Amino acid sequence: MDDFLKQIRDDHHNFDKGQLNDHIGNDPFAFFHQWFKEAYEAKQPEDNAFVLSTVNENFQPSSRILYLKELDEQGFIFYTNYSSQKGSELSLHPKASMVFFWHQLERQVRIEGLVEKIDSSISDAYFASRPRASKLGAWASHQSQSLENRDELMVRLEKLAALYPDEVPRPPHWGGYKLIPTQIEFWQGRPSRLHDRLVFERASVWSSDWKLFRKNP
Ligand SMILES: Cc1cc2nc3c(=O)[nH]c(=O)nc-3n(C[C@H](O)[C@H](O)[C@H](O)COP(=O)(O)O)c2cc1C
Repeated sequence: MDDFLKQIRDDHHNFDKGQLNDHIGNDPFAFFHQWFKEAYEAKQPEDNAFVLSTVNENFQPSSRILYLKELDEQGFIFYTNYSSQKGSELSLHPKASMVFFWHQLERQVRIEGLVEKIDSSISDAYFASRPRASKLGAWASHQSQSLENRDELMVRLEKLAALYPDEVPRPPHWGGYKLIPTQIEFWQGRPSRLHDRLVFERASVWSSDWKLFRKNP
C-alpha cells in the first residue's frame, strides 16, 4: 500500500469539539438556524454547501454538492436547472436528502423530506440578485446534458450576451426548490466514536408534531 493510503488508514481522528445534550428545544428549524450561524461564525469554508441525493426511476441514487441559499419556516431552498439530472429525478420522485458537514465544529446535519418547486416570484427575485455572468451561465448551460466541447458552450454564451445586452431574464428552466423535511438529524462528533445524534422526526410534512429522540452513534 502506498504511504499516503497507509496514513489515511491509520489516521484515527478524535472528535472532541463539543457535545449535544437532550435539551435542544422542540423546533428543529430554530436549532438548524443556530448551528448554521455557528458554522458561519466559525468561518467554516463553504458553510452553505451540502450534498443533495436524489433517485432515478431505477432507484439508483445520485449525489452532488449544492449551495443552500434560503431558509424559511417550511424548509431549505436551493437553486438549480429544472431540466438537469437532479431536476428530472425530482420531477419523477420528489423526495431527497441533504447532508451538511461543518468540519470546523465536527458537526453533521442530515435532512430528509419532500421537495417542491418554489413560487416563480421567489426564483425571479433571487435570479435578479445574481451577477450578470451567472445569469448568462444559467441560460448557456444545458446542465447535465452532454457537451461536444467547451467551445460549444462559449459560443452559446457569446450569443446570449449579445441577445441580452442589458437585463437578463430568468430562464424558465432555472429556479428554486424547497426541501420540506420530515426528519432532521443533528450529529456532534465525540471521542472514541461515541458521537451524539439527536433526531427530530414527524409523520408528514403537514404535521407540526416533531418527536425528538437520540440514536446510537
Ligand atoms: C461547492 C459547490 C456548490 C455548487 N452549487 C450548486 C448550486 O447551488 N446549484 C447547482 O445547480 N449546481 C451547483 N453545483 C454543481 C453541482 O454539484 C452539479 O455538478 C450540478 O448541479 C449538476 O448536477 P446534476 O447533473 O446531478 O443535476 C455546485 C458544486 C459545488 C462543488
